[in-house]
Amino acid sequence: MKKIISSILVGMAGMTALSAATPVYLDESKPIEERVEDALSRMTLEEKVAMLHAQSKFSSAGVPRLGIPEFWTTDGPHGIRPEVLWDEWRQAGWTNDSCVAFPALTCLAATWNPEVAHLYGKSIGEEARYRGKDILLGPGVNIYRTPLNGRNFEYMGEDPYLASVMVVPYVKGVQENGVAACVKHYALNNHEVNRHTTNVIIDDRALYEIYLPAFKAAVQDGGAWSIMGSYNLYKDQHACHNSYLLNDILKGEWGFDGVVVSDWGGTHDTPEAIANGLDMEFGSWTNGLTNGSSNAYDNYYLATPYLKLLAEGKADTKQLDEKVRRVLRLAFRTTMDRTRPYGSLCSPEHLEAARKIGQEGIVLLKNKGVLPINCTKPGCRVAVVGENAIKMMTVGGGSSSLKVKFEKSPLDGLRDRLKDVAEVVYARGYVGDPTGEYNGVVTGQNLNDDRSAAELMAEAVETARGADYVIFIGGLNKAAGQDCEDSDRAGLGLPYGQDELISALAKANKNLVVVNISGNAVAMPWVNEAGAILQAWYLGTECGNAIASVIAGDVNPSGKLPMTFPKSLEDVGAHALATYPGTPRNDGSKVVDCSYDDGIFVGYRWAEANGKEPLFPFGHGLSYTTFKYGKANVDKSSMAAGEKVKVTVPVTNSGKCEGAEVVQLYVSDLQASVERPRKELKGFEKVSLKPGETKDVTFEIDADALSFFDPALHAWVCEPGTFEVQVGASSADIRSKARFDYVDSYALK
Ligand code: BGC
Repeated sequence: MKKIISSILVGMAGMTALSAATPVYLDESKPIEERVEDALSRMTLEEKVAMLHAQSKFSSAGVPRLGIPEFWTTDGPHGIRPEVLWDEWRQAGWTNDSCVAFPALTCLAATWNPEVAHLYGKSIGEEARYRGKDILLGPGVNIYRTPLNGRNFEYMGEDPYLASVMVVPYVKGVQENGVAACVKHYALNNHEVNRHTTNVIIDDRALYEIYLPAFKAAVQDGGAWSIMGSYNLYKDQHACHNSYLLNDILKGEWGFDGVVVSDWGGTHDTPEAIANGLDMEFGSWTNGLTNGSSNAYDNYYLATPYLKLLAEGKADTKQLDEKVRRVLRLAFRTTMDRTRPYGSLCSPEHLEAARKIGQEGIVLLKNKGVLPINCTKPGCRVAVVGENAIKMMTVGGGSSSLKVKFEKSPLDGLRDRLKDVAEVVYARGYVGDPTGEYNGVVTGQNLNDDRSAAELMAEAVETARGADYVIFIGGLNKAAGQDCEDSDRAGLGLPYGQDELISALAKANKNLVVVNISGNAVAMPWVNEAGAILQAWYLGTECGNAIASVIAGDVNPSGKLPMTFPKSLEDVGAHALATYPGTPRNDGSKVVDCSYDDGIFVGYRWAEANGKEPLFPFGHGLSYTTFKYGKANVDKSSMAAGEKVKVTVPVTNSGKCEGAEVVQLYVSDLQASVERPRKELKGFEKVSLKPGETKDVTFEIDADALSFFDPALHAWVCEPGTFEVQVGASSADIRSKARFDYVDSYALK
């Protein structure tokens, strides 16, 4: 297609006698690198510097004289953010900027389905493209280190392997649209309090094994065209201009050829930004985070101050050209690609995609035969209780907040789905966060309720009594201090007295289903009292339909937890070691040192090493059917470098309805010279099975899957010895094991 268009262009140019003069950078038949060099050679110093910083809240300059368009960025990972004014956070007031809100990335991770991740990326990329955006500020892949992190809902869980497998198709799907994914927040941005002043102290082993793999996969396997530096510091340098993270690892070791974008207000120093790998600066001075006059784009660190250093000979043009080359390469991949598709907005396909992602990501945590509900007898009554049954969740939470065309609430979803079989009644139960505004976008909902907690509880209990089913829909929300950017949660517990309410409902009716909407693990002191528990995440536009389809049994749940649900905060490494949120330095610098003393022991790795039985383990998720695992077999008893071991396990649907199981493979190093986790996820596959059907699931294990990072060698190392593969339905539900020996020894690159 590209070839045809360029030959037509060449033909047309010939007719107008322009062909000889067609500049190389406009010649689409030429390789991108040649076009980059040609464009670069035509640019003035001022034009070059102008490309390296913002010109408005969300855009940066192209080269107007050469016909190279400006870049438009947009949040965020879950949908396309509404338009703001050029230089203000206020809404621009467009009437055509509503989008589809896709489920939060925790939900995507909970699908454990790379095909669904591709569908997500493709769909959101199409929305971005239609809205004229060139860089999508997402996805986020920071590791879930503490359940208090207010931004966990924007990330893909606690396991580096799961996040790596899921991020790659998302990035590819977005970029198929000629829109760059901007993977964030690189790196070590694992909580929100003090996010601009936290200096992370971590050893290389934990850095490479836990916190970097998903970024590396996004870059090397996903081919991400841009990456966003995070706010925090590491080795006393801000991550947005951090020589170790950006120059040595990202651009050096990983060979990243894309653009490093600063987080909004994450740039702090001109010489560091020049030398330490930052390519594009956004959000300084005018973002409301840092002080400064409005419209101060010329004062950005990579604007006039950069030109001044160049003029004084204190900055060299080689470094400048290196940055501009990257930005031009991005232009040829996006804005200058005339063959890129046009995209689409709020299409039926996108609604279907949003619904499917939600349906596949909902996790059935517990079920004592209550779900799916069975309303076959006349007069069936379903009592729905809880604020999250009615509260719009697409507004709020920080930069991922959206303006949606519509959002189906869980209550409306249930009412629609059950209208022919049941009477659905509703009681509020508690008042949590009645607000509904973010950055000028309002939900239009009036959630104020003046009744006392006791009155609300009494009404809810009364409604529950005598109902065939009680569906409590609560959890967290997107208000500050809950699942929200720039703040963390105060504790693991549910807010607003929900625990007492749930217990009271359970006493009133044994058919109680608790639907927890959150992006984080929550404590569940009532876990034994509820008949069924669903983890439903933030599901976006199609929220109510997705939840109703699972509750009614139209969809058999197949999601699995992408993070451990601990029983208490003390069961989480970061808290057990009291390293969260760090210790302020007493030197007047405002820096808070946060030492990741939990090292590689994050999530289930910590729980298992310390004998902490979780509330619900990583990888856990039930189905309306049951699955039987046969014996895992390895195809060889020993393997050498460069070889692979095949592990095969038969899995049978032993229940009565069709369902999908995420078969998980963990590796355990039985003879390690260093401390290693009891087991680590190294493979998974979601298989759909009809009742009675059996499928063989096969995994391939190579030396990468067996290795650990040796800081002394600065290399991945695979040691000879015996390894065990553990195949199961969760990290704590291993159904079959097999062993083999690794008989070689070498350091991997
Ligand atoms: C957030 C980023 C976001 C940016 C632009 C920052 O505050 O950390 O994730 O992309 O704002 O809105």
